[in-house]
Amino acid sequence: MAETKESWGSRVGLILAMAGNAVGLGNFLRFPVQAVQNGGGAFIIPYLVSFLVMGIPMLWIEWAIGRYGGKFGDHSTPFVLGRMGKANFWKYFGVFGIWTNLAVASYYCYLESWTLAYTWFSIDGTFVGKSLEDVSAFFNSYTDLGTGGIINFPKVAIIFFLITLILNTYILSRGLDKGVELASKIGMPLLILFGVFLAIKGVTMVAGTEPHSPKFDGSVGLDFLWSPQFDSLKNPKVWMAAAGQIFFTLSVGMGTIQCYASYVKPKQDIALNAMSAGWMNEFVEVVLGSAIVIPIAVGYMGLDWVKANAGFMMGFKTMPFLFQQWGTALSVLAGICWFGLLFFAGITSSLAMGTPWMGFIQDEFKWSRNKSAISFGVIIFVLALPCILFFEKGVFDEFDYWAGTFSLVVFALAEVIIFAWVKNNLKLGWDEINEGSDMKVPHIYKFIIRFVTPAFLIFVFFGSMINPLGGDWLGALSSLFSGNGWPLDKGSVISQMFHLHVADTRWFIDGRITDLFITDMSRFLLILVFAGIGYLVYIAGKRRKREGNYV
Ligand code: TRP
Repeated sequence: MAETKESWGSRVGLILAMAGNAVGLGNFLRFPVQAVQNGGGAFIIPYLVSFLVMGIPMLWIEWAIGRYGGKFGDHSTPFVLGRMGKANFWKYFGVFGIWTNLAVASYYCYLESWTLAYTWFSIDGTFVGKSLEDVSAFFNSYTDLGTGGIINFPKVAIIFFLITLILNTYILSRGLDKGVELASKIGMPLLILFGVFLAIKGVTMVAGTEPHSPKFDGSVGLDFLWSPQFDSLKNPKVWMAAAGQIFFTLSVGMGTIQCYASYVKPKQDIALNAMSAGWMNEFVEVVLGSAIVIPIAVGYMGLDWVKANAGFMMGFKTMPFLFQQWGTALSVLAGICWFGLLFFAGITSSLAMGTPWMGFIQDEFKWSRNKSAISFGVIIFVLALPCILFFEKGVFDEFDYWAGTFSLVVFALAEVIIFAWVKNNLKLGWDEINEGSDMKVPHIYKFIIRFVTPAFLIFVFFGSMINPLGGDWLGALSSLFSGNGWPLDKGSVISQMFHLHVADTRWFIDGRITDLFITDMSRFLLILVFAGIGYLVYIAGKRRKREGNYV
């Protein structure tokens, strides 16, 4: 195997790139919404516990798997997992580590392109003087590509998407240190600067009395988020949401950390680097992420409005209007900071999503870096089209549900089983984490990795399978025992998988395709991509056997 000579330029660069991978749109748009929907302060404790018993161990595991793979010249998960799992079939679990990234990148790059467009709209004053309704309507017309009939091209949304995609492809083609690392070194500090500015405004602002609310200020929202409610600990729904958020935000169970870590040199520290990047992500999420959207929106619109309207579109549909309450000049500045920070958060994550595919295709098929980067761009373009064109039909949600939520748990479970339960691996893995380490990893984590993390993941896995109606576990249990069966929630995996909540499961009605048809086609596409990567792994495996470098 020709070794890819690439590696990180500096330790700071590595940490910033890893933090950039983790810090993403999830920190600013997904986290606040999850927190609000799960009772504010009720969310925080399960969230922090998930971070400690699942997030941190998974970070160490993935960094270790990655650096270990790098020693054999593997920069994506299939063959590392195959090797560590001591059974060939594990390599097909490794397919998740490429697939997730491609599937998520296809909708993520589209979201990212909105932030770029909105930065531009903030600069040119598009939102100045617009009412809340107008700002919100603007968003709808921006994303509406007229899919009902003929697509009116060229649409601004498509142009910004292309710019975003080309930028990603270009940066990836420059290689790790001159591309991704440089982008993170520029993007992360700016992001933090912009974030701190907005957070200070968010926490200190005093909202007016008119027109939408009684006199509120930033502290109302913060109180809501930060007053812990201990009885939430009994609620599996909140646990499930908290664990899901930890997964998404830390980028664990995805294959990107392993890929980045595979470019770390064998004796370089990983234990402390993993903590630095992980805690930096938590700072950005918990401190900055909770001090912007919620305090500002609650301040002006009131808690009830925010509870009723929470969704990540709020960042686009509501924020530009609220910034105007600070006067024209500040509103322009705040808009640039807000969308600019989202853009930096987004691009450092989407670049990370590109690397596992790049690593795989370079390692196994000897493609050049340019060719690999371009192939990534093309794949994402093709996969993004349905997300963009059928945005309103929920293709986007379908991708997010399977690739951005469910698969992370499956993949993490596979990793932790290989790491902690396949013969001898825990001892080797523990040594791998500690080799060259600049910190002492607490011994209790050996126990946590072996028992607590897998148990937690199994709980999350089954919980999401059979999530009961409205997340009401007690109600579901009593229904079960009184012979009325288990009421599944619409969002549970089983219900989603078999369309249990869809009244009419026809693909065509009166010669027209139904939304269900579009949903099923997007699933089919996702399966096809998975199978395609699986096939490439199969071919690569055969070639490796012939060359005698893989057993
Ligand atoms: N963690 C990122 C966020 O919070 C998302 C992300 C980064 C991601 N890398 C990924 C999602 C790889 C899926 C796959 O927004």
